[in-house]
Amino acid sequence: MDVLKADPLHPLQAGFGFGGYIPRALDAAAVQDLPALSPDESWMRLALLESMEGIGRSSPNPPVGAVLVKEGRLLSKGATLAYGDRHAERVALDAVTDRSQLVGATCYVTLEPCAGIGKQPPCVEALLASGISRIVVGARDPHPKAAGQGLKALTQAGVAVETDVLGGECRAWLFPFLAWQQLQRPVVIGKWAQTLDGHLADDHGRSQWISGNKARAYTHWLRQKYDAILVGVGTALADAPSLTVREAAPPLHRQPHKIIFDPKGRLCNGQSAVFHNLRQGLQKSGPVLFHAVETPHWKPEPWMEAFKDVLEPVLMPPQCSWLEFLRLLDQQHRTRFGRELQSIMVEGGAQILTLLVRDELLDALQVFIRAGILGGSRHRIGRLDPRDGASAPPTNPMLDLNARHDFQLVATQQLGDDVVLECAHRRFTFWN
Ligand SMILES: NC(=O)c1ccc[n+]([C@@H]2O[C@H](COP(=O)([O-])OP(=O)(O)OC[C@H]3O[C@@H](n4cnc5c(N)ncnc54)[C@H](OP(=O)(O)O)[C@@H]3O)[C@@H](O)[C@H]2O)c1
Repeated sequence: MDVLKADPLHPLQAGFGFGGYIPRALDAAAVQDLPALSPDESWMRLALLESMEGIGRSSPNPPVGAVLVKEGRLLSKGATLAYGDRHAERVALDAVTDRSQLVGATCYVTLEPCAGIGKQPPCVEALLASGISRIVVGARDPHPKAAGQGLKALTQAGVAVETDVLGGECRAWLFPFLAWQQLQRPVVIGKWAQTLDGHLADDHGRSQWISGNKARAYTHWLRQKYDAILVGVGTALADAPSLTVREAAPPLHRQPHKIIFDPKGRLCNGQSAVFHNLRQGLQKSGPVLFHAVETPHWKPEPWMEAFKDVLEPVLMPPQCSWLEFLRLLDQQHRTRFGRELQSIMVEGGAQILTLLVRDELLDALQVFIRAGILGGSRHRIGRLDPRDGASAPPTNPMLDLNARHDFQLVATQQLGDDVVLECAHRRFTFWN
């Protein structure tokens, strides 16, 4: 492999990335001046924008969008709006009151329709019964209940099928769902803001704010897209973050689950401001602050009584690997919410991100780069804690350039004085 090679996976239309159409995440009106595309691409873009309206609501079902069109006229739109609820295609079909309009119509859908029974009957049945004559699909779905079966049934019934229209854009938006199917463990997205010289904070540990307003608004949008946010205890103590969704353009559908990685239980010695801020956006029946600690070091402190409705310890066995830890979090989530933990956005700091790089567990990256130089010698990805022998070259896999360049560039977007680079690990087969 070439050193420092980073091929784009698929040339995406300008503005599209993991967050959908990124300018829409910052300003709902941004969709008014979209560049011209072919008619099929324009309708698919509308389906994708429709799916963005349901951000944060469908997980672990994919956030799909669909539109129905006849003779160049929009009949209806739909999105998957809740886990276990009607899929986008059915929502769009049900919205057409005059069913005769559906005969000969085209359905544009961002993800291949399902053919098997889950919490809902198969979408393919509804599409076949509707009388549509053409279906245009964005991304193929490797899920066993789809995986080409539905498209085969539609073709056999005489429905014209086209796939991969804005396929890259749809796959980027559906990344957590598609990646989860391949990995069968929570998908880990590393997110950080850095200066041009690679610093996540200055040498005093100050990082608020490296990125500007627009980059922060996009981060908030992403916080509701992914199922949980994880930060290291170093970050929780230094920044007292609230980790809420605040600044993105509406809709703001959910506040994320928050996970603090804290092997030594240092969070318990933190100041009350840390807890006060972390408690923002948490509700009794909703998001939970998972506090991950190693068992031998941890015992509940008396003050924790006040947070028992929101603070849930995940007891990590000593020497727990990151993979085991992800599975523990998933287990905890399933027990509490009855569904898998599909994706986690890790928002730093540099130590946590470095550990995840070391263990090859970062599945995607969203790196916000600020047009500024900070200097200093700390808070960079790749500076491992001395207990890992980071300074001994052969034990630091990050020093082997040929072995390390595992990511492909998916999208870039300028956000004020920042640029976000979005990359996916090369391990994913669904891009090809
Ligand atoms: N620019 C950004 O995007 C951004 C984002 C977040 C944070 N920050 C800045 O980053 C700083 C905090 O980051 P940080 O890197 O110091 O801390 P951190 O990554 O937030 O937390 C470090 C965690 O990793 C654990 N750890 C470290 N080495 C380990 C190892 N070898 N094995 C197991 N666990 C290990 C530590 O455990 P122990 O408790 O046992 O030490 C601690 O829980 C703050 O200044 C914050 O402002 C910047």
